[in-house]
Amino acid sequence: MKKRLFIIAVLLLTILLMYPAILFAQDLKPIKLLDPQLDGGRPLMQVLKDRKSSREYSSEKLPLQILSNLLWAAWGVNRTDSGLRTAPSASNMQEIDIYVATADGVYLYNAQKHMLEPVLGEDIRAATGKQDFVRDAAVNLIFVADYSKMGRGSEENKRYMSGADTGFISQNVYLYCASEGLATVVRGMVDGPALEKIMKLRPDQKVVFGQSVGYSPK
Ligand SMILES: Cc1cc2nc3c(=O)[nH]c(=O)nc-3n(C[C@H](O)[C@H](O)[C@H](O)COP(=O)(O)O)c2cc1C
Repeated sequence: MKKRLFIIAVLLLTILLMYPAILFAQDLKPIKLLDPQLDGGRPLMQVLKDRKSSREYSSEKLPLQILSNLLWAAWGVNRTDSGLRTAPSASNMQEIDIYVATADGVYLYNAQKHMLEPVLGEDIRAATGKQDFVRDAAVNLIFVADYSKMGRGSEENKRYMSGADTGFISQNVYLYCASEGLATVVRGMVDGPALEKIMKLRPDQKVVFGQSVGYSPK
């Protein structure tokens, strides 16, 4: 009996050592996002004047209200009766998922529930891009296309459509950041296959772009 318990304990320990994410992912709790502040924001024409890419970040975290506003602006539900979103998508496929990599871990933005679901209890920010600043940004958004939601078209067509759909979401992020005085840059320089592996995505989930968001150094 004692021997059997010992073997089970050793097995459990081995599994936890091999897959520490199991241990940590349990620590990562879902985050209920706050309602977006719809009466905020600067006039659109001024925001367009200020929109830009930034490549220097402090590691200051984003307050929950700012993160909530950001994700809603990016790709939230703006028509609750139909579930339609702040950005358009080809044939309303809504195939883009936003994964949110922070110092605490990786979350999936659930737009319908406006919450963050835990994915991975590891800080993978450094792996979300090929540029050094990505490790400093408070948040790195990872836009992932779920090809299983895109019907039977060719791989090329799916790549094209998901690239365009991501562009609209990314621009929403740019505009929100310009309005709020946050730094951001969309990034194609991402090792997609490596990131898909780290995030344990399915073969029909493809990383499209990354986008860093945070505060500029003071
Ligand atoms: C599809 C796409 C991919 C991009 N990839 C990167 C990137 O990997 N790294 C980066 O620093 N900037 C990237 N950028 C940002 C551009 O370099 C930037 O938009 C351009 O230099 C113009 O600057 P602006 O955004 O400040 O107007 C990308 C932009 C787009 C639209």
